[in-house]
Amino acid sequence: MKIFVTRKIPEKGLELLKKYHEIEVNPHDRVLTKEEIIKGLKGKDGLLCLLTDKIDSEIIRSEPNLKMIANYAVGYNNIDVKTATELKIPVSNTPDVLTDTTAEMAWALLFSVSRRIVEGDKFTRNGNFKGWGPMLMLGQDVTKKTLGVIGTGRIGTAFALKSKGFDMKVLYHDKEKNEKLEKELNAEKESLEKLLKESDFISIHVPLIKKTHHLIGKKELDLMKDTAILINTSRGPVLDEKALANSLRKKQIFGAGLDVYEHEPEIEKELLKLENVVLQPHSASATIDTRSKMAVMAAENMIDGLKGKKPKNCVNLGIFK
Ligand code: DGY
Repeated sequence: MKIFVTRKIPEKGLELLKKYHEIEVNPHDRVLTKEEIIKGLKGKDGLLCLLTDKIDSEIIRSEPNLKMIANYAVGYNNIDVKTATELKIPVSNTPDVLTDTTAEMAWALLFSVSRRIVEGDKFTRNGNFKGWGPMLMLGQDVTKKTLGVIGTGRIGTAFALKSKGFDMKVLYHDKEKNEKLEKELNAEKESLEKLLKESDFISIHVPLIKKTHHLIGKKELDLMKDTAILINTSRGPVLDEKALANSLRKKQIFGAGLDVYEHEPEIEKELLKLENVVLQPHSASATIDTRSKMAVMAAENMIDGLKGKKPKNCVNLGIFK
């Protein structure tokens, strides 16, 4: 069968696809336009796409042969799953393989902000380091502080568990009770309001759905301590970026670390001017090993889906009932 791949992914995944199918890969190292995706998808049976591709109803319906959509990401808010389900097209994602990698990035951001690593590096390179100073680059301690985790699915749980070495008090906010966190860390399930008020570090790990859009806005930021640090490695629109920039500019919170943005790849201009925010280019899953595993996983899902089998990481399982 024929597969359209919207952007070059690690070779292992492409090799696996080529063993069984004919593939066409976007030859440009950039996100395709909607028209280009529709053109590429013409006559194809499978679509392997990225989180940067908005796969809407028009794209899905444009190719009547389409039998499988494999997303190269764990988040799949970029795909109109409702339309795919209506047309009985399985949609898959790439969970698990990027859990620790993403959790590690949240910690990297947490330390970068709390110990002002990026600011310090710039300061030193610019020749401003004139010797040890008692008031130089003062940051925030991490050990024994309170960690607030919003959303304790796979990544939120892995992130929280990694706090063990820092002897932190852990609060979490989720609709479900997280037995593992309660047992291993004595973590306490709290309302969002209490978590925001009491945490020194807050990390967001929720999927982007209607209910989580702007989950953290002005009202929520105002509840946070002026020493608090906010980390977001989930999806940009969960956080009101303008409100965050305001809060950071007025030093209402100590800092923030972001890997994702509300209008990616655009970034709120105010944020770019601030020193108390560390910005990453949506690279939380970007390690050589993880990206390769994601490619193989997406390929395996595609191969199963095209065989008419239930892909291992299918997100719309209802179509197989
Ligand atoms: C995902 O897979 O959803 C991540 O955001 C990729 O970095």
